Amino acid sequence: MRSTRRALAAVVGAAALLVASACGTGEDDDSTAAQVEVFTWWAEGGEKAGLDALVSRFTTACPGQQFSSGAVAGGAGVNAKQVLNARLQQNDPPDVFQVHAGAELLDHIDSGQIEDLSAEFSTWGLTGTLPAGLIETITVNGKLWSVPVGVHRANVVWTNDQVLADSGILTAPKTLKEFIGNLGRLRRNGVESPLALGRDWTQLMLLESVLISDLGPKRFTGLFTGATKWEGEAVADAIDDYATVLGFSNADRDSLDWPQATRLLADGKAGYQMMGDWVGAELEAASFSGYDSFTFPGNGKAFQWLADSFALSSGAANPAGGRCWLQTVASPEGQQAFSVQKGSIPARTDAPTIGFSDYQLAASADWKSGVAVPSCAHGSACSQPWQNAANAALGAFSTSEDKAALQSALAAAAKQFVRQG
Ligand code: GAL
Repeated sequence: MRSTRRALAAVVGAAALLVASACGTGEDDDSTAAQVEVFTWWAEGGEKAGLDALVSRFTTACPGQQFSSGAVAGGAGVNAKQVLNARLQQNDPPDVFQVHAGAELLDHIDSGQIEDLSAEFSTWGLTGTLPAGLIETITVNGKLWSVPVGVHRANVVWTNDQVLADSGILTAPKTLKEFIGNLGRLRRNGVESPLALGRDWTQLMLLESVLISDLGPKRFTGLFTGATKWEGEAVADAIDDYATVLGFSNADRDSLDWPQATRLLADGKAGYQMMGDWVGAELEAASFSGYDSFTFPGNGKAFQWLADSFALSSGAANPAGGRCWLQTVASPEGQQAFSVQKGSIPARTDAPTIGFSDYQLAASADWKSGVAVPSCAHGSACSQPWQNAANAALGAFSTSEDKAALQSALAAAAKQFVRQG
């Protein structure tokens, strides 16, 4: 319980840092250790496996500190972020919490909820080892606010090869038109829901991929800086395409989280799933190997990125423990161990790639050579309130199918939440 944890941290405090702990896992009950509450939304499957890999390194690297999981399940943090915000407002913060690098940090910074980590970045070897573009997105007011652990690619389509082969589909579609053709072919062959999809934020991801195909990476990115208008024909045409693709998805999409949509794919109920590259880790964790993946058709070399990172709460009960967690997260070995399990690629360019899948090696190469575009659904492009508004608009469209209402809701959200410069 929170109060017990606070009391423990206060009593044991810095002295505990000096005590060498022999605990085998971070969850072991060590009454002499100071608890470090790490708040995430990684509660099961490939996500928990990634977190566990960090916990095991933390346990070795931070004697006297004990990992305490504050995980709240729910893809993309839909539930966790609500709990976190309530706790931050009640002045009951976890020591460290998961947050996306980029615009998602802004409200936490504005509200004084997280610590400036600029000095730690150089002590922990992050200066010069993170891609310049990534450093730019986490620098606000000239300071650095969160430690990125891994980079994921959002614009990926995952396949069930057997389902596709049964309909004679043996190659990846190159264009959105070809993709829609394949979806139609699957349905004609008796696959009722060719595209596995989940709730609101997963639908936003699908719309974003269609927008990248139809507008191109530059105009897509401009949607989040004010340079591209949400009103007008280009976005209206993309919404038409989105509605067509959505029509091939499962009718119960609004009640599913992404792992349940992945299950539809693995169980052969769907031929495709559009989702970020944490799906690979999930399928591996479920021992399903009959899959493949390709970049969303028509996205070209666009690498739609998002980065998982951790921030230190301003009111952390155990800031020393929180810093030790962040240092673990910052280390090349921590990032490698995490990514092997999570399906991401390390944020650091000097992290070892031992144990990486062929997909991860290809993703690392694409991250270097591709065109980086940010993600609204996963906070690199949009602040939290903007994400909430976009998710709500997509959720409403899923039942209303009112294209004009969707476009004007997205335009209104951009007007309200865009921040220049
Ligand atoms: C993203 C997060 C990923 C993955 C995904 C699904 O927001 O960055 O690491 O966990 O949600 O839950």
